[in-house]
Amino acid sequence: AAVPALYQPLTVRGVTLKNRIALSPMCMYSSQDGFATDFHLVHVGQYAVRGVGLVVMEAAGVAPEGRITPHCLGLWKDAHVAKLRQIVAFAHAHKAAAGIQLAHAGRKASTTAPWLIKVHGANADAAHGGWPGGVCGPSPLPFSDASWAPHELDAAAIRRIQREFADAARRADAAGFDVLELHGAHGYLLHQFLSPISNARTDEYGGSFDNRIRFVVETVRAVRAVWPPEKPLFVRLSMTDWVAAPAPGAPAGGWTEEEAIELARVLSREGVDLVDCSSSGSSPLQSIPLAPGYQVPFAAALKAQVPGLLAGAVGLITSAAQANAVLAEQRADLVFMGRALLRDPNLALDAAAQLGAFAQYPHQYERGR
Ligand code: FNR
Repeated sequence: AAVPALYQPLTVRGVTLKNRIALSPMCMYSSQDGFATDFHLVHVGQYAVRGVGLVVMEAAGVAPEGRITPHCLGLWKDAHVAKLRQIVAFAHAHKAAAGIQLAHAGRKASTTAPWLIKVHGANADAAHGGWPGGVCGPSPLPFSDASWAPHELDAAAIRRIQREFADAARRADAAGFDVLELHGAHGYLLHQFLSPISNARTDEYGGSFDNRIRFVVETVRAVRAVWPPEKPLFVRLSMTDWVAAPAPGAPAGGWTEEEAIELARVLSREGVDLVDCSSSGSSPLQSIPLAPGYQVPFAAALKAQVPGLLAGAVGLITSAAQANAVLAEQRADLVFMGRALLRDPNLALDAAAQLGAFAQYPHQYERGR
């Protein structure tokens, strides 16, 4: 019998994923000073043991002030590497490929881990480990009236952050990660430069499309220069801001699908292998048409319009049949699953059973099959 699309391997550069199921990067808010912990080992490890092809670790701050919360993962110093190396080695021992997402939160930094919001509010002040004075962005425009006011990055700070991305990429390689993903979505720093909602600059980093994408393109170039040529580079993009009308105080409406696809074309030429198609995060005025697979059309459009670039689909893909159909209909090359895997860590193995595909059951668990 033919191998179902979800269980067909995917080779990108020198890395082969055994199936098309990726654990979507998800903040675990379980770090101190950016260090991964035993929680991460067990969390990531459970998916490696249970058949997920690619486990992608959560947004890791390339600088302390680039973390979303004081409890976010980081990769800004060499000391962070050792624990990550252990996690990667464990994943590899179970035939899972391992990835990590590099991020800078920009104006959305210094916030509170979800379960602490009720305790001390949505913003983390200095008393709660935050860094309000260090919050930065392309322009001094806060995300909302309730958010920290960012200071505007100057040219030297822009270059420093690009170096921080490259240094973090080098550390990710040292930890043994197979795949690197840059977080260019959800209203974090890379996306803040892309979107006219958060970028009102008048220098070469703002205004025209070519100027707004400059920070992302230069960052990708800096990372690709140090990330080994045999290892895949992914970028997660918000394919739209879902904001039709100009936001109050913003110079124009949101980042659009047309622009995102044009950027993807540029990124493909810069050595990006896959664009992971997400959306939203620039403005509280966003209006998201949530529905099963609601972001899949972005991946499908990307595949149709940018030949040679792989497309990742993510967002409310919750079942084996749904994920397999997305791939079988050639609407994406890889399916990222988030909350469905949080609910059911055995999803990948159950999917194989449901689709009639072979998947190596962990021999320790064979009697549970
Ligand atoms: C997320 N998401 C997310 N996305 C990202 O690019 N980097 C991240 O670190 C996080 N963190 C995160 C934490 C938690 C707890 C959740 C639930 C989500 C978004 C996630 O990767 C995914 O894109 C969305 O959850 C939509 O996919 P699902 O969950 O519908 O499969």
